[in-house]
Amino acid sequence: MTLNHTYEPIHVRDSDDRAVNPTDSRPFAEILETRLARRSMLRGLAAVAAAGAIGATLTSRLALATGMGNGLTFKELGKGNDETFHVAEGYRGDVLIRWGDPVVKGAPAFDPTKQTAKAQAMQFGYNCDFIAFQPLPRGSAAADHGLLAVNHEYTEPGLMFPGIAGEGMADKITREMVDIELAAHGMSIVEIRREDGRWQLVKDSRLNRRITMETEMMVSGPAAGHDRLKTSADRTGKKARGTVNNCAGGVTPWGTVLTAEENFHQYFAGDPAATPEAANHKRLGLEGKPEFPWWGKHHARFDVTKEPNEPNRFGWIVEIDPYDPKSMPVKRTALGRFKHEGATTLINKDGRLVVYSGDDQRFEYVYRFVSEAKVGTSSPAANRNLLDKGTLSVAKFGEDGTLAWMPLVYGRGPLTAANGFNSQGDVLIDTRRAADLLGATPMDRPEEIEANPVSGVVYAIMTNNNKRKLEQIDKGNPRADNKYGHILELIPAGGRGKDADHAAEIFTWDVFILAGDPTNPEHKAMYPTEVSADGWFVTPDNCTFDSKGRLWIATDGAASAAGFADGIWACEVDGPQRGLTKHFLHVPKGAEMCGPCFTADDTSLFVAVQHPGEGSSFEKPVTRWPDFSDALPPRPSVVAVTRDGGGTIGG
Ligand code: FEO
Ligand code: CA
Ligand code: CA
Repeated sequence: MTLNHTYEPIHVRDSDDRAVNPTDSRPFAEILETRLARRSMLRGLAAVAAAGAIGATLTSRLALATGMGNGLTFKELGKGNDETFHVAEGYRGDVLIRWGDPVVKGAPAFDPTKQTAKAQAMQFGYNCDFIAFQPLPRGSAAADHGLLAVNHEYTEPGLMFPGIAGEGMADKITREMVDIELAAHGMSIVEIRREDGRWQLVKDSRLNRRITMETEMMVSGPAAGHDRLKTSADRTGKKARGTVNNCAGGVTPWGTVLTAEENFHQYFAGDPAATPEAANHKRLGLEGKPEFPWWGKHHARFDVTKEPNEPNRFGWIVEIDPYDPKSMPVKRTALGRFKHEGATTLINKDGRLVVYSGDDQRFEYVYRFVSEAKVGTSSPAANRNLLDKGTLSVAKFGEDGTLAWMPLVYGRGPLTAANGFNSQGDVLIDTRRAADLLGATPMDRPEEIEANPVSGVVYAIMTNNNKRKLEQIDKGNPRADNKYGHILELIPAGGRGKDADHAAEIFTWDVFILAGDPTNPEHKAMYPTEVSADGWFVTPDNCTFDSKGRLWIATDGAASAAGFADGIWACEVDGPQRGLTKHFLHVPKGAEMCGPCFTADDTSLFVAVQHPGEGSSFEKPVTRWPDFSDALPPRPSVVAVTRDGGGTIGG
């Protein structure tokens, strides 16, 4: 980590890194070893991708998918780790919106020494993560006008508030500071327009919106109204208050945004073991030692001793319509409750919606939801309740290269009253425990799980898992103590292209990249031999695809794992340059790279610089990016990357 630590940053002690899965399903590393034993190096698979591959679609991205990529021509950026943002030569990164910038009409200008919860609720939140660019008008392929929906994953009080970092910080946090934190979580929706080549916010747009930890939301799907979702503030179990730790997400073909509630357990104080939900809370890492103990001190709903069911109202996927600022967000319980990294979607060849989601914690699982109904094409309203009915399944990776999707359905197999499940609502509230009983495969922290819009192959990113004990695997297993992460390919039944069936029970899988330093034999990394010294990466987290189906990988944790800043690496996934990653941009000290998101024509790439200066303090930050003003701390911000003179990103 960086110098000048004055307190332990929340991200570093966050419980991505706390394994709580008690089951003894065979760890994935063992299975991976078996698979790798049959392979000496990364293969260049035959190029079989077909244009516009994933069946009928409403999305402009897929409509523009034109087939194979033809080579990434940008000049590779050198790795680094300094105070600022860098992008490859011939490109520029313009800061579009920063923490504290006004979002809704009437929002005051940012002043971190006089911040209030009321102001924060009208300004851009903290720690931007997932980004969705939704074109205006709705349903168009506009690439110069749209809405940006941005998640705000969590807060860093020592960098946000003057005079509190260091020893005794928790005691210095006031009720008003907690309320500012609540308001700095959630999502921002802002209208943006590209004029003369530069992206600008549309000030005071009626579409601009803040969603926070105080925003009223509906709960829908099989767990809605369940007794275990009822609290003293909501006797119905159908009205939640706020969304929290919104990590990555997805967009639906009908224009709504999905935001994923990830490490929600971090906010709950009290004694979880003494509640009727003790086993549930334990399985999700609630241990009475939250990263944000001050929330429970100032608000009863974050104290499980007082409100044992409040945590059950988090850990869901939330659907938000960014085009309607008055719409109420909806927690879609059919998609399960765990530490959702994201929720990426596609329309299957049979017309149903498929959603992939990883549960980001060591030894947790990969999930898939398939809607019961087909996606309606008449209007967005036709899909209003599409995400409430369908089948959630969990992945079991076989040693023979098959992947079985096992349905989490009440009454099936072990998911019965004998094991404490009395309804589908119970199965969904206790998704992890249900998946344990089915023998799902424990993975090395599943982050983004996303289908390539051209080939249909699903890329599943495992960020790292350095808690895997050596004695769990054979001595020669290259990925014991997996510090660097890896990327898998999940290949739907029917193979690549238009025949891919994402709803099938059985897929196959393969290894795409084992991250790490390919010149260090101890890393046992796996890349094409041509990868450059700047081209290899570590700790992949999120990804996106351009319209040619090329993969753009964002990292989280490279500085501590390998000494260089997080950033973006891009590669072809088919053809002779398959897997040959190239470094495209990197972030300032302390930051992680999040939210890569292209416009439909690939001429703009939006990225989120999350927690710049992490590990330092308001008074002595290791960077003051992006303002470099002595009066301002570093500010998490969204950057718009474009090519000098216009043109497609990546070439
Ligand atoms: Fe919030 Fe899994 O990263
Ligand atoms: Ca991460
Ligand atoms: Ca992430």
